[in-house]
Amino acid sequence: MIDTHVHINVSPLFEEADAVIQSAQSAGVTDFLVVGFDHETIPRAIHLADRYDSVKIALGFHPTIAHTLKGDDYKMLEEALTHPSVRALGEIGLDLHWQKDTLDVQIEHLHRQLKMAQDKNLPVVIHMRDATEKTYDVLKQYAPLKGVMHCYSGPLEMLPAFLDLGMHIGLDGPVTFKNAKTPKAVAKEVPIDRLLLETDAPYLAPHPHRGQTNTPSYLPLIAEEIARLKALPLAEVLNATTHNAQALFDL
Ligand code: NI
Repeated sequence: MIDTHVHINVSPLFEEADAVIQSAQSAGVTDFLVVGFDHETIPRAIHLADRYDSVKIALGFHPTIAHTLKGDDYKMLEEALTHPSVRALGEIGLDLHWQKDTLDVQIEHLHRQLKMAQDKNLPVVIHMRDATEKTYDVLKQYAPLKGVMHCYSGPLEMLPAFLDLGMHIGLDGPVTFKNAKTPKAVAKEVPIDRLLLETDAPYLAPHPHRGQTNTPSYLPLIAEEIARLKALPLAEVLNATTHNAQALFDL
């Protein structure tokens, strides 16, 4: 299994990276796409990539810090993106849950980073929270796209539109939550050749660890629930998602 969206570069995972990686590997999670999203987590992602062969990285500026970004920050990002372990640009996107008042500047930085990804021929990792239509309106200007809707939280009805753009769909802990109707419906519907497994650890721990610190060793819980929802053998879900991750992120 490959955890295609994990923040081993965030506390408390970062301080215990050795143990976190070892226990995940014992649980069958062999490789990690560690996502750096701001001034602290981008250098930490690079630090982990330098230290572990199993770590590849995605780097970009998160929409919740869009209003703080300056020209120099892009110099830093441009330089960071030259690291040989970089496999994607992100997470980038729109977030009207945590940042309601910065939509215009979020859109500006999303365009800027989508153009960077296009120039560098990198897949994109898209964070979208309470902003489905507005995110779609920006992304469609860059179709066909290569990338993933990280922890897809849009409505089921918009799923085909994002698939038509060329995007993969990332599913995380919420798919395991008892009353999570939409993520479960999305899991049933998403074609298996567009599905990716993510933990987003240390955030969004799956059932029965909900509310605790998440770790990549919980990835099998997400895979098992998706297999149950799709009524497929677990091995088929694991094979397909591993293949998808390898192909999309050149792992
Ligand atoms: Ni994330």
